[in-house]
Amino acid sequence: MVEIEEIGSGMRLERIGAHSHIKGLGLDGDGRAKVVADGLVGQVRAREAAGLVVMMAKEGKLSGKAVLLAGPPGTGKTAIAVAMARELGEGVPFIQLSGSEIYSAERKKTEVLMEAMRKAIGVKIRELRKVYEGEVTSLDVKMGSSPYNPFIKVPQEAVINLKTSEEEKKIRVGPNVARQLIEYAISEGDVIMIDAKDGRVSKVGRSSEAFTFDLEAEQVVPRPNGPVLKEKEFVYILTLDDLDRMIAKRRGGGLFSLLLGVESKEIDPEVRVAVDQQVKEWVEEGRAEIIPGVMFIDDAHLMDIEALSFISRAMESELVPIIVMATNRGVTKIRGTDIEAPFGMPLDLLDRLVIITTEKYSEEEIGEILKIRAREEGVEIEEGALELLKKLGAEKSLRYSVQILGIAGVRARTKGEKKITKEEVEQVAQRFSDVKEAVDYLKKYESELLR
Ligand SMILES: Nc1ncnc2c1ncn2[C@@H]1O[C@H](COP(=O)(O)OP(=O)(O)OP(=O)(O)O)[C@@H](O)[C@H]1O
Ligand SMILES: [Mg+2]
Repeated sequence: MVEIEEIGSGMRLERIGAHSHIKGLGLDGDGRAKVVADGLVGQVRAREAAGLVVMMAKEGKLSGKAVLLAGPPGTGKTAIAVAMARELGEGVPFIQLSGSEIYSAERKKTEVLMEAMRKAIGVKIRELRKVYEGEVTSLDVKMGSSPYNPFIKVPQEAVINLKTSEEEKKIRVGPNVARQLIEYAISEGDVIMIDAKDGRVSKVGRSSEAFTFDLEAEQVVPRPNGPVLKEKEFVYILTLDDLDRMIAKRRGGGLFSLLLGVESKEIDPEVRVAVDQQVKEWVEEGRAEIIPGVMFIDDAHLMDIEALSFISRAMESELVPIIVMATNRGVTKIRGTDIEAPFGMPLDLLDRLVIITTEKYSEEEIGEILKIRAREEGVEIEEGALELLKKLGAEKSLRYSVQILGIAGVRARTKGEKKITKEEVEQVAQRFSDVKEAVDYLKKYESELLR
């Protein structure tokens, strides 16, 4: 029996700040995109395509395939990937990494990818356990000499009276449970649960029937129903990576690693095989369910041939998340080779991709997106300021105008102004270059900059 502990799955939310306004793909019942919905504007064809992909994924028809979002910078590729994950539902793992993040001095590229992939696969585990549950109506802990140190008194056993709405039961527990009762400061009137098999104690809260000193500090719960000894279902959602780490920790190192706190940076492939095996068994027994999430690789052209082949291979395996990649490159060299290829990807991989292209926005669409962003950031915006931002977005890039809006918003707020004015946008825009300006600058001063 595997003991389950919860480890926070390292979801990376910080980088989706710029996309916090996106709630979904904004499609109607027939899968058609509404012009403005769920925080998304325009890009109708790509959104409808993304909707079809989500549908395929839900039906399990996406195996052996991955998705590529291709299009110029600032055309909403990342936005659509985020929307796809939202569309798949709450609790579905979403892991985002950039093609450049796989390069590290300490770990192999394939290891980084493998870990990300396993973080993007959730396992919902159901477990039926026998527990004693009830309100403590009396508690008597017997202390005795410690077997290791006769001068110290430790809890030796306890007799607890547990009450539910239906019955009352007196139970006697050994030193392990008695110690936990003291540790958690269990007292009369608490509702507790004791695992019948491993004796783990948990405090559910303070019974609503009991006298409570401090209402704020304690969670008040009703006195439990049913018998004291009962079977209860517990549900946990872990990722394959969480399970890998738990098993690796148990297997690895022994006393040496405990003392020195050495944690191996890489997980033994054997551990992963064992985890997969275990999870498959659980699924067959009906005790677990696999929840494939989304692994989103932004700037996928930054991956080299080795990483790309890893992705191709991984797509074929059984336990695989929905892989969504994005790139803004056209025909370019496949990294690590001299071969030019569309999107910098080998043809055999391209062959297995579902490709969704995104198109440049019109000035109106940019205006709508900016309005949504302004609302999201809690700032109002003057008509003239919006016009200017729209123009900047069309001339330079959407990304640039979204950024300028963000900065102007912060500036207005610190000055205590309610609305972003045109002057504010002008001033901020004057101070920051867009990519093209920066490149022109580099060209102009090429000879004077250090190399
Ligand atoms: N159709 C849209 N509706 C609403 N917001 C959008 C839409 N498209 C893009 N955005 C927002 O505009 C900004 C820039 O878009 P995004 O980062 O998705 O572009 P990208 O195609 O991924 O660009 P890059 O190639 O530079 O990575 C983001 O804040 C994004 O949320
Ligand atoms: Mg992007």
